[in-house]
Formats: sequence, structure tokens, C-alpha cells
Amino acid sequence: MRVVLVGFGNLGRGLSRAFIQKASFLHRSYGLIPRVVAAVDEFGAVVDEKGLDLARLLEAAEKKGTVAAAKGGKRGKLAIKVIEDVEADVVYELTPTNIKTGEPGLTHIKRAMRAGKHVITSNKGPLVVAFRELDSLAKRCGVEFRYSASVGGAVPVIELARKLLAGNEIREIRGVLNGTTNYILTRMTTEGAPFEIVLREAQELGIAEKDPTLDLEGIDTACKLVILADSLLGMNAKLGDVRRTGITRIGPEAIRLAQEAGQTIKLVGIARRGSLEVGPKLVPLGHPLAVGGTLNAVTFELDLAREISIAGFGAGPKETSSSLLGDLIDIHRTLGG
Ligand SMILES: NC(=O)c1ccc[n+]([C@@H]2O[C@H](COP(=O)([O-])OP(=O)(O)OC[C@H]3O[C@@H](n4cnc5c(N)ncnc54)[C@H](OP(=O)(O)O)[C@@H]3O)[C@@H](O)[C@H]2O)c1
Repeated sequence: MRVVLVGFGNLGRGLSRAFIQKASFLHRSYGLIPRVVAAVDEFGAVVDEKGLDLARLLEAAEKKGTVAAAKGGKRGKLAIKVIEDVEADVVYELTPTNIKTGEPGLTHIKRAMRAGKHVITSNKGPLVVAFRELDSLAKRCGVEFRYSASVGGAVPVIELARKLLAGNEIREIRGVLNGTTNYILTRMTTEGAPFEIVLREAQELGIAEKDPTLDLEGIDTACKLVILADSLLGMNAKLGDVRRTGITRIGPEAIRLAQEAGQTIKLVGIARRGSLEVGPKLVPLGHPLAVGGTLNAVTFELDLAREISIAGFGAGPKETSSSLLGDLIDIHRTLGG
């Protein structure tokens, strides 16, 4: 399968490493040979229709900060041009998330679909802004569209529900979907430390962003909830439909009281048809949602299976490459490979 990587940051590189590491496994197990024919970042692109040498590409990008520094690379070459002109089967859209406009990912995805290319993305922006539009465009263009990595990182939340729980009606989805806030709440709980101190340490460790607003105010969780609501509950939700409270007002006292009652405080997103909410919630200790550190967890409430929960690593280039690779294998199988 000929693959184009649009975005060669943490995930583009993590996925390339997984392609190298898994090459013979993918061939042996699925008859799948991913051939990366182009990689693009903000500075430029490199194209080789015979397939790029990924180890060399990684080395060049890591040393010089752009894929354009690799052999044959061109500075100033735009993603749109590569998406439309390079012959490929699948475009991975792995650029930064913009939840207001969805760009540049939204345009990349639409152009790829219109050019008859299957799309895999980890980018929440285009999904939050235009889920329905992209879903129906993919159908009209006759291409596959996968976005497993956009919610839960390595945790196969969407695919679990779509495939293995397909016979159930999903009544409710509850999720701890943001690693940064979960890390902060976990440390406040285990150490009794105040919010500001834990936040500062999380920023020093690179777990929280310099501007942590999207995480702390529950906006990142709300984005993921919108994607789950649209993809699994058939809603046409927008970010403004989510009632939202962040974690900035939670103090050690609230945490202590929760603990005394055998509970813990988590930032939980809750989706039911017609109602979307993000806020700090009490979760009983020992419940599958009471995961620690940067872990993510999701519980589905279902008519037949009653409750099913899943947990794991919600971010990280290696961990998330599990979902990105899974989507490619899934498309390969869907196409009869
Ligand atoms: N990191 C994770 O664990 C994780 C997990 C799940 C989902 N996600 C989502 O996945 C996406 C990628 O994450 P990441 O961590 O890999 O981000 P990243 O490290 O910031 O990488 C983004 C890449 O996109 C490139 N880019 C930016 N604008 C572009 C444009 N107009 N045309 C072409 N390339 C462009 C950047 O190029 P330059 O470097 O040249 O600027 C960079 O190579 C984000 O939307 C993120 O929210 C990330």
C-alpha cells in the first residue's frame, strides 16, 4: 500500500518507526507492505514513488528539523500538492489540531478524499468541526476513512464499539479522555498536593502544555466526546453542545473528602443521545474509570452487554502508532487484502 504522511512530528515519526519495526510481521501476517511514498511537514516535502528509506528520513528529519532535508526533499513544497499529485492509496493526516477551523487538516482530508485516497487521521480538529461532512464525503468518494487515534490514543475505543459491540445499543459513554488532567488529579490525590504545584511540575515534565487551558478547562475532553457522539451515537454534535466544567477549582479538601468516601475525582466526559457533558465527577475507587497517571479509560453502557470498560495509554508516539497501524490494516482487510 502506497502511503503519504502529512505531518512528520511525534506521530509521523512514531508511525515510521513502527513501519520499520513491523515490516516483516505485517507482510507475514496480513500480506501488507506499507510503502511510504511521500512525507510532508510545514517546511517542505520529500517524494519517492518507489518508497522512501524510512531510517534515513527519520535521521534527516531529526537532525535538520524537516523532511525537506532528506535526499530528494524540497523546501516549500505544500501538502496539498503532494496529496493531489503523488500516486498513493492512503493519506495519513497527522498535523496539529485546530478546534476552531479544523485547518490545515480539514482541507488536507477533503482534498485527499476527492483525489480518491483513503484517509487515516489522529487530528481531532477536522472531526470536531466537520464530522458529518467528512463522513459523507468519504462515502460519496468511495474511500475509507478512519480516525481511531483521535480519541484515546492507543485505546481502541471507537473500533471496540463499532466492531465487537456492534450488536448493542450504546446507551451511554463515560470516559476519562485526557491524560494531563488525569495525571494532575492523580498526583493531587496520592500526595495531597495543591493544584498549582502539581500543574507546574507537570509542565516541567512536558505532561502539561505551557498553555494548558484546553486540557484544564475540559475542552480537549469535550472534543473527544463530540467525536464519540458523532461516530458512535449518530449525533451531529458540535463543541458548543457540550456542557463543560474544568478542574481548576478542585482543591485538596474536595479530594480528601472524596477519598474518605471511598471515591476519587476524575474529569469525566459523558455522552448520551441528546446530552453531552464534561466535568469533575466522583468515581468509586476500584471502578474501571478510576485509572491513575496519564491513563485513559472508557465505559460503555449497553443494552445487552450492560457495561464494558477499556483502559490504556491515551497518547505517546509509540502507543498511538498502535491505532494508526491498526487503521491501515483494517483498510487493507476491508479492501480484500
Ligand atoms: N502526540 C500524541 O500522542 C497524539 C495522540 C493522539 C492524537 N494526536 C494528534 O495527532 C496530531 C499530530 O500530533 P503530533 O504529536 O505528531 O504533532 P506534532 O509533533 O506537532 O507534529 C505535527 C506535524 O505537522 C506538521 N505540519 C504543521 N502544519 C502543516 C501543514 N500546513 N502542512 C504540512 N505539515 C504541517 C508539522 O510540521 P513542522 O514540524 O515543520 O511544523 C509537524 O511535522 C495532532 O492533531 C494531535 O492532536 C497526538
